[in-house]
Amino acid sequence: MDLYEYQARDLFEAHGVPVLAGIVAYTPEEAKAAAEKIGGVVVVKAQVKVGGRGKAGGVKVAKTPDEAFQYATDILGMDIKGHTVNKVMIAQGADIAEEYYFSVLLDRANRNYLAMCSVEGGMEIEQLAVERPEALAKVAVDPAVGIDAAKAAEIVEQANFPEELRSKVADVIVKLWGVFKNEDATLVEVNPLVKTGAGDIVALDGKVSLDDNAEFRHEGHAALEDKAAADPIELRAKELDLNYVKLDGEVGIIGNGAGLVMSTLDVVAYAGENHGNVKPANFLDIGGGASAEVMANGLDIILNDAQVKSVFVNVFGGITACDAVANGIVKALEILGEKATKPLVVRLDGNNVEEGRKILSDANHPLVTQAFSMDEGADKAAELANA
Ligand SMILES: Nc1ncnc2c1ncn2[C@@H]1O[C@H](COP(=O)(O)OP(=O)(O)OP(=O)(O)O)[C@@H](O)[C@H]1O
Ligand SMILES: [Mg+2]
Repeated sequence: MDLYEYQARDLFEAHGVPVLAGIVAYTPEEAKAAAEKIGGVVVVKAQVKVGGRGKAGGVKVAKTPDEAFQYATDILGMDIKGHTVNKVMIAQGADIAEEYYFSVLLDRANRNYLAMCSVEGGMEIEQLAVERPEALAKVAVDPAVGIDAAKAAEIVEQANFPEELRSKVADVIVKLWGVFKNEDATLVEVNPLVKTGAGDIVALDGKVSLDDNAEFRHEGHAALEDKAAADPIELRAKELDLNYVKLDGEVGIIGNGAGLVMSTLDVVAYAGENHGNVKPANFLDIGGGASAEVMANGLDIILNDAQVKSVFVNVFGGITACDAVANGIVKALEILGEKATKPLVVRLDGNNVEEGRKILSDANHPLVTQAFSMDEGADKAAELANA
């Protein structure tokens, strides 16, 4: 789960990372009240889970509460890269002398954590990483040790911080590691980390991603979820207890077992190359016990995705044998009735496969086509999606 900047700010504060005052506001009136409460110059910042807010006009300095009201009016409702702004953070204005960059993240490729740091932070960090990679220090972090004082010293040295700043910045980095570790994050990024005119180091912006698999360890994390902004289909799937991830494609996928579903995605993407480049529309693992109800819920979720043009059901009968799955599909189509509108390609294999195939043949549903191998099914589903 990705957090909003204001949520990241609050977590930072809770872990002793220096931050400035920040208050979230949903209306221009609330923005004005927040600006009055904070006092002095404030910054009105769009709260969307996407980078590049400043460049898109979503970060504005307001010298008075009335200006904050005006900027909030402009920014609320704005579209930033497809995300509608429905809240802003009113942040205390900082007197910025310099902008730095720091992040720590889960480095999956290297099965490790990675810290990145630069004295040239600000809005162009992605560009910096491409054009002058030497200006961005990359330091591997041993998960068993984490970022202790010694590791933080190594990071600030490699990032070329001037001698007199190193210990101050290193202290903040150790605290940011505290956020990463104690909150079970997969990313903590601060851009910019600033030095103020008074010489203090402050986190002015924060991006945090939390590991959903660790949610059970953190009572507070569920409350951070933004139900209103979540993908409505994903949200519904979660309520139905389905393992569903929405993707950008046309072929809906249902399978049993995460491994089978993942390879189905690959095979469909490959088959799609011959059919107008259609792609898998989702990941959906209905698990071992594919009852009619679970199948109906799964189909319902997928058919509700307007982007979906065809569905590929790829099931390997194990403990739940193919005949039970086939009955599940037939019943699911009955339950859905008129709501089932898109062609379905079904490939069954495994335990009781003959019985399963016969049940589908006998049902003779006009939307269902059977396939006898995974490749054949993927090809057929891609073809139907491209029709
Ligand atoms: N509280 C603040 N006081 C003064 N200036 C600020 C403050 N917050 C942000 N700024 C300035 O605005 C710039 C952009 O802000 P910020 O980093 O929060 O957004 P962004 O980088 O555009 O968004 P994102 O990080 O999502 O790409 C900062 O680099 C900084 O110069
Ligand atoms: Mg930023």
